[in-house]
Amino acid sequence: MVCSIVVSGVTVRFESSVVLDGVIFSVNRGEVLGVLGPNGSGKTTLLRSIARAINPTSGEILVFGRPAWDYTEEEYSKVVSAMLPNWPGGFSMKTYEIVLMGCRNRSRNFWWEEEEELEVAKEALQLLGALDLFERDFDKLSSGEQRKVLIAKSLAQRTNIILLDEPVAYLDIKHKLEVMNVLRTLAELGKTVVVSLHELELASGYCDKLLVLNRGKIVAAGEPRSVISEDLLREVYGVEAEVKWDGDHNYPLIIPKTKKIPKEEIVCLR
Ligand SMILES: Nc1ncnc2c1ncn2[C@@H]1O[C@H](COP(=O)(O)OP(=O)(O)OP(=O)(O)O)[C@@H](O)[C@H]1O
Ligand SMILES: [Mg+2]
Repeated sequence: MVCSIVVSGVTVRFESSVVLDGVIFSVNRGEVLGVLGPNGSGKTTLLRSIARAINPTSGEILVFGRPAWDYTEEEYSKVVSAMLPNWPGGFSMKTYEIVLMGCRNRSRNFWWEEEEELEVAKEALQLLGALDLFERDFDKLSSGEQRKVLIAKSLAQRTNIILLDEPVAYLDIKHKLEVMNVLRTLAELGKTVVVSLHELELASGYCDKLLVLNRGKIVAAGEPRSVISEDLLREVYGVEAEVKWDGDHNYPLIIPKTKKIPKEEIVCLR
């Protein structure tokens, strides 16, 4: 079986700093891969590389067996969609217009397709519990509402590979679960999902496999129960915590050992 994505030896350098360092992994059809790692570890850079927003310094990315950069832009937009949330603000658009941009990323817009595209946009928003935002001004939405709309835009592109950079940031627990449930079902329908997350429990509970980056290198990869551990929290995140697994679901209970900051350490901010 041809893997959906094969990342082999990808290195990204920005000036003198190596941000991704020889990253190797693959993702199969129907899988949800969670990309974890501390701030600045390279998660967004990895997703941007697969989305072709940046061209890696070295290494290769194969998408359905073909080098990512061999696809034309139009071909690629039919295969890979990406939610990389640095939406340029400053211009006014309705929510549905943003979601429709997802539809139009994959096909030229003809007037007779408009009705079908509106149905696609509505379904994407509906799945994310955001249909009530349909006619709202995007720039007046809350951060969480904006995030849901950008996810809907990505889903509306209807690609086989979906990349999402921190899709559940800003979302309340109900909507975090809703997004992850939608991604799981899309994976069951045969799509391949790569999602970066800071929510370790959620990543563990919903992803088939996890990949952990630290300073641009993969430091752990595999099934959630083999990846999320007290050692990982200590060595990668610098956090002392107890990790408990209970029942047959994959949600760990992560109990941090609280570390108070002594009052004497706060000098100027008093
Ligand atoms: N265009 C750029 N030029 C220079 N350095 C960059 C550029 N883009 C990212 N970096 C640096 O690369 C490193 C990795 O950034 P990246 O955004 O991939 O991290 P991340 O894992 O997504 O972090 P976070 O969890 O905070 O989103 C950071 O140190 C960042 O400052
Ligand atoms: Mg990031």
